[in-house]
Amino acid sequence: MKDILVELEERRAQARVGGGARRVEGQHGKGKLTARERIELLLDEGSFEEYDMFVRHRCHDFGMQAHTYPGDGVVTGWGTINGRMVYVFSQDFTVLGGSVSETHAAKICKVMDMAMQNGAPVIGMNDSGGARIQEGVDSLAAYGEVFQRNIEGSGVIPQISMIMGPCAGGAVYSPAMTDFIFMVKDSSYMFVTGPDVVKTVTNEHVTAEELGGASTHTRKSSVADAAFENDLEAIAEVRRLVDFLPLNNREKPPVRPFFDDPERVEPSLDTLVPDNPNLPYDMKELILKVADEGDFFEIQGDYARNIVTGFIRLEGQTVGVVANQPMVLAGVLDIDSSRKAARFVRFCDCFEIPLLTFVDVPGFLPGTGQEYGGVIKHGAKLLFAYGEATVPKVTVITRKAYGGAYVVMAAKHLRADVNYAWPTSEIAVMGAKGAVEILHRGDLGDPEKIEAHTQEYDDRFANPFVAAERGFIDEVIQPRSTRRRVARAFAALRTKRRSMPWKKHDNIPL
Ligand code: HXC
Repeated sequence: MKDILVELEERRAQARVGGGARRVEGQHGKGKLTARERIELLLDEGSFEEYDMFVRHRCHDFGMQAHTYPGDGVVTGWGTINGRMVYVFSQDFTVLGGSVSETHAAKICKVMDMAMQNGAPVIGMNDSGGARIQEGVDSLAAYGEVFQRNIEGSGVIPQISMIMGPCAGGAVYSPAMTDFIFMVKDSSYMFVTGPDVVKTVTNEHVTAEELGGASTHTRKSSVADAAFENDLEAIAEVRRLVDFLPLNNREKPPVRPFFDDPERVEPSLDTLVPDNPNLPYDMKELILKVADEGDFFEIQGDYARNIVTGFIRLEGQTVGVVANQPMVLAGVLDIDSSRKAARFVRFCDCFEIPLLTFVDVPGFLPGTGQEYGGVIKHGAKLLFAYGEATVPKVTVITRKAYGGAYVVMAAKHLRADVNYAWPTSEIAVMGAKGAVEILHRGDLGDPEKIEAHTQEYDDRFANPFVAAERGFIDEVIQPRSTRRRVARAFAALRTKRRSMPWKKHDNIPL
């Protein structure tokens, strides 16, 4: 008996070595942690339950029988984050470059299946050279099995991808189908085809970093939701995010203890909106002042910054925030901001996270660039996402709410539950200048008349009261009381029940 126990420990120790000390050194030399070190930091201390530690690949081509490692390049299992269960897989770059074999993928599939069955998120830490070249089509088939599980799990359990090394070829498509992608600056990249292929096919000379590094994907492509300085920071932030999320779509988001008075008034908000309607202000100040303890987890903070998305808590409950940002492009809606916000709204709706919308939007961005790029369809994504969302929806207009953008930004007409406006709101089809130019074209040569018409239009429409008279705005509120009003609105909506007509699924304008 004793010998067997010793053998078990020896086998375990061998598996924990991964690809050996030299390769671990190489990993550390690149500023990266190993697969096991990452898991240890991600999960609560001592909570990791490992599966399939002794799995080895079965490939005999290209002399691969001489290169087998227990675990086959991926560490899998489950554990807890602040006491709540998550399933994890962490690819071990020190073993055959973390490449994905039939058995490697089967290990990932096993934890994905368990996560689905038991209703817990999956967090994947990706650090891999992609399909294991020696296994050919078996490895492609194995990837396909992972993809199918990503699809079936979408909207059922939260799926989070951390890119912590290379991620190339078809390997990018599994992360792409998960809810959030986080990258590590300078040590991770994602692309469908690498710089060499790009050079051959398109004659473009580009580095891996330029083609698919963290900056590219958080600022240009919007493939990734955030980038962090190193493995440690990325892991700490993912732990923070998980605290905001429900474990699955049958469960409400977690309620955390809170130490911030829901009745707190913020007199400084009364002067947040400048007297001059053309001056910007920082919408994030409002978000931070409304949130419990000023805690805000921003999603896609570096992309389409004219709209802000992320999670806060109100009375300890998670709320998804979407807010126009007057500091960037005057908070206009365009292709990128519509896509960004639509995806966020849909995530919240999948997982029963209530939506809080702060509106200060002058309209949609005009121009050929936008029209040729399909702003009609992309803008419609956000419209569609808000209209189909059945979670509690509370909207606060702080200043401008013009034209189609007024409706898109969770107006009453899209079944928002409670719509508030600050006294500084201007709710109309368009701004006074544009309106007067159309309505009084004959007077355009007479500045005095134009001035008078503009004043008349402003007096009539540059306020929240016309909409309030019609019940499109439920109440005009003091800016200072926004936290209290919004928290009470969500409290009243906790028992909300609303469903859409039966359908197989909708056909959102993709
Ligand atoms: C088998 C691989 C491998 C792979 C790396 N290795 N990628 N083994 N299959 N795909 C092995 C290397 O042979 C090496 O083994 C070890 O991992 C470390 O690799 P290095 O090249 O030394 O590391 P580095 O210089 O850091 O470069 C990392 C890399 C490079 C950029 C990822 O290895 C690389 O370009 N790999 C191939 C990438 C690729 O083309 N993959 C296929 C994509 S197609 P030793 O024994 O020397 O340590 C794909 C299709 C999926 O994924 C489709 C799904 C539908």
